[in-house]
Amino acid sequence: MAYETLIVETHEAVGLIRINRPQALNALNSTVLAELKQAYGAFHADEAIGAIVLTGSEKAFAAGADIKEMQPLEFADVYKSDFISGWDEVAKARKPVIAAVSGFALGGGCELAMMCDFIIAADTAKFGQPEITLGIIPGMGGSQRLTRAVGKAKAMDLILTGRMMDAAEAERSGLVSRIVPADKLIDEALTAAAKIASLSRPSVLMAKEAVNRALETTLEEGLRFERRLFHSLFATEDQKEGMAAFIEKRKPVFKNR
Ligand code: HXC
Repeated sequence: MAYETLIVETHEAVGLIRINRPQALNALNSTVLAELKQAYGAFHADEAIGAIVLTGSEKAFAAGADIKEMQPLEFADVYKSDFISGWDEVAKARKPVIAAVSGFALGGGCELAMMCDFIIAADTAKFGQPEITLGIIPGMGGSQRLTRAVGKAKAMDLILTGRMMDAAEAERSGLVSRIVPADKLIDEALTAAAKIASLSRPSVLMAKEAVNRALETTLEEGLRFERRLFHSLFATEDQKEGMAAFIEKRKPVFKNR
């Protein structure tokens, strides 16, 4: 499948999606959204794919939503079309998605990275929510996901001033899970994704659901949710296999059932 704004590859059980609009620092326009939904859909439909890596270029993961596309829009246009709501589908991906961020991840770019399950950052990465400098506010989840990720003080600082933070500050704040040298970024992300893809699929999907539930519910409900999922994994062949392999000191052969 040929895309206009993406480069899509498979690396064994991992799907790799690169946003590719170099002339606009990977600004997210409606074509990027439509194509990302298509690429995600194809990887979700493909049983052989166990995890996805989403990345941009060395210079930019994505410098935001496309300002040139947004500039002429009127209230009635954005309200009636519920502009931006299409990104919810990207955020709801069931298979694990790792964001591999090099260079700018600003505005919608930072928000897209935060829709992924975790962020691996190159040492060149720069994160920010500069919408306030354009007379708007974050609209793809920045005020909500960034606040959950880094807490109120840092989120307010970034969202009210529009300043950027570097990879070290982003890691210190809990926005990114690890920092790697820029030239190792894709390899590290693919290795992490391949590890995830090698594990039992039901346990991976449930682990993701359980962690996400922590952000949505009370501790008591979250603990109950986790325990029920945990119980249900004892109905899988892979739980028997995983534990038998440990006891027999061999590698497990998971069947994803
Ligand atoms: C459209 C963009 C763009 C964007 C960069 N470009 N960001 N086009 N939308 N978000 C274009 C520039 O216009 C320019 O095109 C080309 O990419 C290269 O950018 P430069 O500015 O020349 O590069 P540089 O000097 O290296 O500066 C990099 C930068 C700067 C600091 C990242 O481009 C920048 O500030 N970009 C905007 C960042 C931003 O405000 N993002 C938030 C957007 S709002 P030409 O044709 O001139 O060469 C948003 C809301 C999301 O994301 C939520 C609701 C939709």
